Amino acid sequence: MNQIISPARHIKGIIRVPGDKSISHRAVMFGAIADGDTRISNFLRSADCLSTISCFQKLGIAFDTDPETGTLIVHGRGLRGLCEPSSVLDTGNSGTTTRLISGILAGQSFSSVLDGDASIRKRPMKRIMTPLGLMGADIVSVSGNDCVPLRISPAPLNGIDYQSPTASAQVKSCVLLAGLYADSKTCVTETVLSRNHTELMLAGFGAGVASRKTPKGYEASVSPGSSLHGTYITVPGDISSAAYYLAAALIVPGSEVLIQNVGINPTRTGLLEAVRRMGGEFHLLDRRMEGGEEAADLLVRSSSLHGIEIGAELIPSMIDEIPVLAVLAAYAEGTTVIRDAAELRVKETDRIKTTTRALRRMGAKITPSSDGMVIEGGAPLHGAAIDSCLDHRIAMSMAVCALAAEGPTTIKDADCAGISYPSFYSDLESLIQR
Ligand code: S3P
Repeated sequence: MNQIISPARHIKGIIRVPGDKSISHRAVMFGAIADGDTRISNFLRSADCLSTISCFQKLGIAFDTDPETGTLIVHGRGLRGLCEPSSVLDTGNSGTTTRLISGILAGQSFSSVLDGDASIRKRPMKRIMTPLGLMGADIVSVSGNDCVPLRISPAPLNGIDYQSPTASAQVKSCVLLAGLYADSKTCVTETVLSRNHTELMLAGFGAGVASRKTPKGYEASVSPGSSLHGTYITVPGDISSAAYYLAAALIVPGSEVLIQNVGINPTRTGLLEAVRRMGGEFHLLDRRMEGGEEAADLLVRSSSLHGIEIGAELIPSMIDEIPVLAVLAAYAEGTTVIRDAAELRVKETDRIKTTTRALRRMGAKITPSSDGMVIEGGAPLHGAAIDSCLDHRIAMSMAVCALAAEGPTTIKDADCAGISYPSFYSDLESLIQR
């Protein structure tokens, strides 16, 4: 599907973003290996999270939806209750599904094979195969290229003390989940703290998890032995989805948007810090706890932005928001430098390449580097035909970019937004004044 986006006069109104993708995945996975039912409200029914559900259905887990509230009910079968799947587990486009489920599967008494779409088949799995191998797991890349398909076979697991070379929540979570099945404590340390939803949520399920700062960095640990018990989870709105309205309101003059119920876990709010440094106006209202995570309403007003430099300390907490930050930078005065973000090269697409290509087509001055990009803001942008490259975050970032450009923009394969935000274009439309 192609989507045409015409420039907006203003962005105005109130919007509620769908549930957080990272938290939705985890709620299903942890619910599946907990004893008893887990009830998940505001679960994100996007393609990625549905991939997680379908994998666990193949592993013998039953799901229901409460017809009145829409709450998703996971009928957990306990740490050792999963069944051998009769076919390949298809993780679709989802890196989170692939990497986290690998940690769980490494601890099972049956074999399984994981595979995914063309994008996931290119994404690096060595980063989980290495620590899982150190734990004694039997995990092989069937094609020998350290990508999926992966075959995971039963093997006893030992606890490890792992210094993660990348600040990746997917790697950390994979190792911690395998740690639930190990014979002793497992620790993962990272130099910059990646999103900590796994640690927070596993604690809510009754697992023996702990987090602390050590001289080596941020350590998360899990002690095996305790079973997980089913629980209630309310998923806060996804700040990675709110990011598109935040950006739209900032760059379209005369705009004001209230984005309701946004998760503001500090390991996810790097974009807010970047926007603050750029001079953008936003306010966090009614800060509260939502399902063990902090949430707030986010009020944003259009602002004149200026360029900034960002690096290692901020990147992990805004890794999925770099494409939309690049859009903000293109509309800002002065130069924005993004460095230490080589991880962008191994996302759903090489986002250094796809962001650069898309923004250049609209007239932006942007230069890629090995680990980021440099954007000279302030060049007038014009509508163009943009290829999403089937990357949801590129499609949505460029839709936002189009709102403040001259003339209409066509986004090719725009429906890939459904990976994380199925109703994105209609929700965006509801805020646009032309
Ligand atoms: C995620 C972690 C991040 C992020 C991804 C979701 C998660 O990936 O990019 O969209 O839910 O753990 P990495 O952990 O690989 O950085």
